[in-house]
Amino acid sequence: MSLPTSTPSDPHGAGPQDDAAPGGAEGDNSPEGVAHRARIRSFVVRAGRMGTGQIKALAELGPRYVLPFEQRPLDTAQVFGRQAPVVLEIGFGMGGATAQIAQSLPDHDFIGCEVHEPGVGALLKLIGEQDIPNIRIFQHDAVEVLEHMIPEGSLAGVHIFFPDPWHKKRHNKRRLIQPPFVAKLVRHLAPGGYLHCATDWAPYAEQMLEVLGADPDLVNTAPGNGYAEKPTYRPLTKFENRGLKLGHGVWDLVFRRK
Ligand SMILES: C[S@@+](CC[C@H](N)C(=O)[O-])C[C@H]1O[C@@H](n2cnc3c(N)ncnc32)[C@H](O)[C@@H]1O
Repeated sequence: MSLPTSTPSDPHGAGPQDDAAPGGAEGDNSPEGVAHRARIRSFVVRAGRMGTGQIKALAELGPRYVLPFEQRPLDTAQVFGRQAPVVLEIGFGMGGATAQIAQSLPDHDFIGCEVHEPGVGALLKLIGEQDIPNIRIFQHDAVEVLEHMIPEGSLAGVHIFFPDPWHKKRHNKRRLIQPPFVAKLVRHLAPGGYLHCATDWAPYAEQMLEVLGADPDLVNTAPGNGYAEKPTYRPLTKFENRGLKLGHGVWDLVFRRK
């Protein structure tokens, strides 16, 4: 099993309620806090029930594996204690895929961003149970983590699996995959680094193909500039499997930075 290599020719849920109000930490009146609230965000922080295992994992493993958001570049060599290709995952949900991928690719390091606390607890629980050394977590908006902590040109890959589809037309602007954010993501990829998106919402798949296809610094790895075959490193989730059995589609897109 391998991630896309840097050879250009190499082929390769449950989201928020559409009616939910935009999130934002109230009470922070610093310029950064105000700007943060003013920006359209791709998520809503939902209250979620934490299981006892998740609470325990947060308390015991959080200090070691959850990194604090800071407005300065992350030193991944220091954090992971080695030099290895780094993959950023945006919105890991309950972290099942993240844990499986990290275990199957021990030579890569994975930074997962998720704002939903039960998801952070769930991934920490998996890290503890399976003794996974190559994952670190930000419980923070991935857009800000990218902007402030990830050096440009540094990432081997970016995973965005089943991002919130924001079905309603008036909420489409909250989708992550839009030209300005994609341009930013691409700047943080190393040359030859890849961006892998997957979705089960056909209109979003079309938007992804259009937006990624139009970015001048990306190349589609799929034959015919279409959707990619599911790369072997991405596990099929229970949710996805159920959808597939019901005849729903899933679309993978794997693009590479020129
Ligand atoms: C529909 S879920 C999919 C979760 C997971 N990737 C999966 O396939 O099961 C999307 C997740 O992305 C998270 N998310 C959305 N925007 C985010 C952002 N800007 N930063 C961090 N997490 C985000 C949400 O909290 C949510 O858990």
